[in-house]
Amino acid sequence: MRHLQDLSLQRRLLISASDIERRVRELGLEISGDYAGREPVFVGILKGSFIFLADLVRQVQLPLLIDFVGLSSYVGTESCGEVRFTKSLALPVEGRDLIVVEDIIDTGLTLSRLIEHLRSMAPRSLAICALIDKQERRKVELPIQYVGFRISEGFLVGYGLDCDERLRNLPGIYALENS
Ligand code: IMP
Ligand code: MG
Repeated sequence: MRHLQDLSLQRRLLISASDIERRVRELGLEISGDYAGREPVFVGILKGSFIFLADLVRQVQLPLLIDFVGLSSYVGTESCGEVRFTKSLALPVEGRDLIVVEDIIDTGLTLSRLIEHLRSMAPRSLAICALIDKQERRKVELPIQYVGFRISEGFLVGYGLDCDERLRNLPGIYALENS
């Protein structure tokens, strides 16, 4: 497992704050068009999606609701293979249009557990919006309707993404690399 305290790790900028801003605006427009006439419920997955969700909903020109679920599956930079629910939904979602907002989808294991759980609550529809899709590492099929960026490798930090709970506040997205 790699830790931040490991001083040999360097950060390399992959996506600048202004590139993120531009892409988030596009996603907001697309969602606004797709859900015209509806009132979707945005479900942010804590904690990683909090910045993306906050920026995204301000680019959506629709009435909407916001809720959060807490899920945890990673320790350091490696999946521990087990998903824990740390917070459940507060709003009723039966018959609603849900848009699940995730920071990054890697193996897809975390999200597939959540999707299964949300489907059992009988929403009218369920879509996934991920800031980053690491498609090459996918272990389970997931229908992801909205993707900010497709990135193939590396451990990423910033814009909500953490390494051992740190670096979420970086305004851009960086890869952690050995120097
Ligand atoms: P999955 O279950 O393998 O798809 O892992 C998804 C979760 O792991 C995400 O919600 C993130 O919290 C975390 N994660 C996966 N890859 C990264 C990364 O590169 N940086 C930071 N967190 C990551
Ligand atoms: Mg995380």
